[in-house]
Amino acid sequence: MGENKVTVEFVEDVALICINNPPVNASGVVVRQGIVDALDEIKAAGSAKAIGLYCAGRTFIAGADITEFGKPPLEPGLPEVCNILEDNEIPIVAVIHGTALGGGLETAMGCHARVAVPTAKVGLPEVLLGILPGAGGTQRAPRLAGISNALDLILSGRHVPAKDALEMGLVDRIDDGEPREVALAAAKDVVVGTLATRRTGELTTTPDDAAIETTMAAVQKKHPHLISPQKCVECVAASTGDFKEGLAFERARFMECLPSPQSKGLIHAFFGERAVANIPERKAQARDIASVGVIGGGTMGSGISTSALMAGLPVTLIEVSQEGLDRGVATITGNLDGAVKRGKMSPEKRDAALAKLTASTEMESLAEVDLVIEAVFEKMEIKKEIFTKLDAICKDGAVLASNTSYLDVNEIAAMTRRPQDVLGLHFFSPAHIMKLLEVVVGEKTAPEVVATGFALAKKMRKVAVRAGVCDGFIGNRILGHYLKTASYLVLDGAHPDQVDKALEGFGFAMGPHRVGDLAGLDIGYMTRKRLAATRPAEERYGGAIADRLSENGWNGRKTSKGYYVYEGRDTLENPDLNAIIDEERARAGITPRVFSDEEIVERYMTAMISEAARVVEDGIALRPVDVDVVFLSGYGFPRFRGGPLHYADTIGAAELVKRIEAYAQEDAHYWKVPALLRKMAEDGGSFADLNKGK
Ligand code: 3HC
Repeated sequence: MGENKVTVEFVEDVALICINNPPVNASGVVVRQGIVDALDEIKAAGSAKAIGLYCAGRTFIAGADITEFGKPPLEPGLPEVCNILEDNEIPIVAVIHGTALGGGLETAMGCHARVAVPTAKVGLPEVLLGILPGAGGTQRAPRLAGISNALDLILSGRHVPAKDALEMGLVDRIDDGEPREVALAAAKDVVVGTLATRRTGELTTTPDDAAIETTMAAVQKKHPHLISPQKCVECVAASTGDFKEGLAFERARFMECLPSPQSKGLIHAFFGERAVANIPERKAQARDIASVGVIGGGTMGSGISTSALMAGLPVTLIEVSQEGLDRGVATITGNLDGAVKRGKMSPEKRDAALAKLTASTEMESLAEVDLVIEAVFEKMEIKKEIFTKLDAICKDGAVLASNTSYLDVNEIAAMTRRPQDVLGLHFFSPAHIMKLLEVVVGEKTAPEVVATGFALAKKMRKVAVRAGVCDGFIGNRILGHYLKTASYLVLDGAHPDQVDKALEGFGFAMGPHRVGDLAGLDIGYMTRKRLAATRPAEERYGGAIADRLSENGWNGRKTSKGYYVYEGRDTLENPDLNAIIDEERARAGITPRVFSDEEIVERYMTAMISEAARVVEDGIALRPVDVDVVFLSGYGFPRFRGGPLHYADTIGAAELVKRIEAYAQEDAHYWKVPALLRKMAEDGGSFADLNKGK
């Protein structure tokens, strides 16, 4: 039956259904048909008075099989299976271990009672994939847990621990044990009447108009770009009426979401975050990392130290002066306090983490650590000096990493007699919060050192992306390119605020000028100065306005003034900005012209895509999806658009080539068609094809 993914076992007067579809028991068609066949088999046998449904392996059903989305539907569908379970004459109790998510929880809610093991979690995370619970979840969850809990569950997508699920009424009992044993005991209890059963669809939802209204208003404000959160609220609101009508209403809303580009983008992001772990070095044995050294107690070094401490690793922090060290320790303490405040760790864990922090002004203290991350000022000479010292101090086999955001990792590695142990670990600020870690692989970096970088990221709950060596690696190289577009747009006639608002309208959390102000305009200023000597003569200089701001000491938020003025929580116009813009336009002999918001987005995105294509072409990123994940996890790229190269496929290579050729009429040096894009336009190929290795 069901290719043995669903099996039936009869024990005295109960039957057990076991689902076994590794790795996460996703309910693909074979599982769905298997459940229906199992119920038929049990009915035909005629001996069972109750049924226990449980899963083998590490988890209960983790949801619908997402890989089936977008393909022709395969019968029986999940909504139908949930209804068949609910209509079954013999009562069924679902036993949850691991995570019952999405269609998994919906399957459990279609059963007549639910028992969870203490470590189990349940959730309805469909909204994170741009859809909604489409197998009765929006109708059954409010009937079991009430409207307010259902809204929280469905709109947050969070994984609710068994204890809370019990309180909410989503599960009826918590029993410890192996899923099969728990299922057997629960089914027997159903037979003797010590575990009550009922059909969820026969319950009623108590109306709660206030909760619906407040949530709808909050959702519209928080997710103005997304379609599925509002539809989730509408569906939950419909749960106070007739059950069958509610199911039909939910199905119709689900079918509106499923084919949407938003859902495709979010699903691409989900699989992308997993796909980036597929690297050539994945089979290499990572080295054991039991202790970490961090050089530099500035914002980056302190953030990295915090992240390592939160992952349970002992950290030795090095600074040149006691004063710098004290500042670093204070920042780390503040970061950990913040994590406690945000509910990310308990006060006890914070204390335990801080106890693992050693601070020293002596590099020699790093002699025994397993991995060192250098996070000092972005100057090659300083980095070289540090790596020469590390080579002399660190034990054999220690991994030596630089947190450089631009510099040549090969040049740094060459300062040591062990370049095979050197790599770049590029964290993003604030490093204890941002998900992304670029693992920069040098010419001589050993495969197990690369694997160690990925293992460290996993321990720190970060998404690691493999990058090759070039100025800026994946993210900052592309950023450096498209930020020029933003500056050209302003020089040519757009206002920084218009550019920001147009891109925020596209879905970016913040436009580039607001981001610049937040990061500190001095960073870009220093980078421009560093690269000034290597800037080709034919390149148009876009940095003039930003230079003027920095030279006035207006470096953004930290100086309360940059492109904007910051007063408390308010962001105001910078009254001096327009004069600077006018002067720089006049100096460059530019007559300003009008740009529509649409054109701003088109130019900005086309520039981003062009450089991203070159990064793939040059092998700096392994695949297009690696670029996408870098931008989703480190650059605030709107997740529902799936990343720059997923988005590029929605425009199409031919159109992109056409745009670049048109822009090249104005500036042929900046706007060049990447060879990869031209080939795609000619062959009808896509970045998605490249991801699949086509
Ligand atoms: N469908 C298909 N494949 C899935 C899947 C799903 N629902 N969930 C996970 N997988 C795959 C992953 O892609 C991964 O494949 P890979 O090994 O080839 O990369 C593998 O299963 C293991 O997944 P993880 O690496 O994520 O394993 P973890 O142990 O870290 O996490 C998990 C397990 C918490 C279950 C996590 O995988 C997860 O959150 N999955 C998605 C849950 C979800 O969104 N469910 C709702 C689906 S939509 C739905 O049900 C619609 C319904 O309402 C009609």
